[in-house]
Amino acid sequence: MRIFHLSDIHFGLEDRAALDWAAAAIARERPDAVAITGDLTMRARHREFAAACDWINALDAPVTVEVGNHDLPYFNLWERFTAPYTRFHAIKARIECEIDLPGLAVVPLRTTARAQLRLNWSKGCVTRAALDHALHAIDSLPQGTRALVACHHPLVETGTHGTALTRGGERALAELAKREVLAVISGHVHDAFDLVHQTAAGPVRMIGAGTLSRRIRSTPPSFNMLTVDEAGIRVKVRNLEHVPTPEMLVPDVPENAMPPREEGEPVAPVHRIPEVDPPVH
Ligand SMILES: [Fe+2]
Ligand SMILES: [Fe+2]
Repeated sequence: MRIFHLSDIHFGLEDRAALDWAAAAIARERPDAVAITGDLTMRARHREFAAACDWINALDAPVTVEVGNHDLPYFNLWERFTAPYTRFHAIKARIECEIDLPGLAVVPLRTTARAQLRLNWSKGCVTRAALDHALHAIDSLPQGTRALVACHHPLVETGTHGTALTRGGERALAELAKREVLAVISGHVHDAFDLVHQTAAGPVRMIGAGTLSRRIRSTPPSFNMLTVDEAGIRVKVRNLEHVPTPEMLVPDVPENAMPPREEGEPVAPVHRIPEVDPPVH
């Protein structure tokens, strides 16, 4: 089974060349499913959702989408508090269809919040209710079906003690480890990674996809090709610049999607990738 794991397409600041290349790869290679782990838009504007919906609906594959922090109303605070997911769910209903993969289920886990008791609301948060919802879905799977948990924020990150990227993430990972999920796939940080996190209940594989937007962090636009068989999952980070996968994978989960830079260094200009025709097979 091949699943193309895309993330952070960020319509409003999308990279048209990267999107065209990814759509062509999907049309040519016909993966069994496409899993998009959030941040469909830049500012959750109606026109951005409409553009994302049109692009996703034109893909020649069954698709799942998760909600990202950029998909909650940004300018309309009233709507953000009273109906934070209405815009996203309207699009999700037009995009998703039943995914029928033998022995494998994509289980969503929500990591976004309309507000948090901290200044940075872009960070993740796994509420008890959201975790219970995902755990119930996993526990209800037919015998022998394995779960690939899909969420927007990586559930843990390195080097940010006290300002955790995702609150409740460690607890969630421990519960998922007990259920021996195949992996947790996510986005948000705009670089790809493939790591194993140790919890008290055992290890959990964490796989992150980069971005197909112009909002790149330290690697060119990319998506992950996940190949699933009896041995587990293999990850190939596909990118227009043909950078080998080991060089595309960052060694730790970064704190956010901002480009890394030295102290005092000005913010780097947006890096444009060269437009290259996709290889013909
Ligand atoms: Fe993002
Ligand atoms: Fe995000």
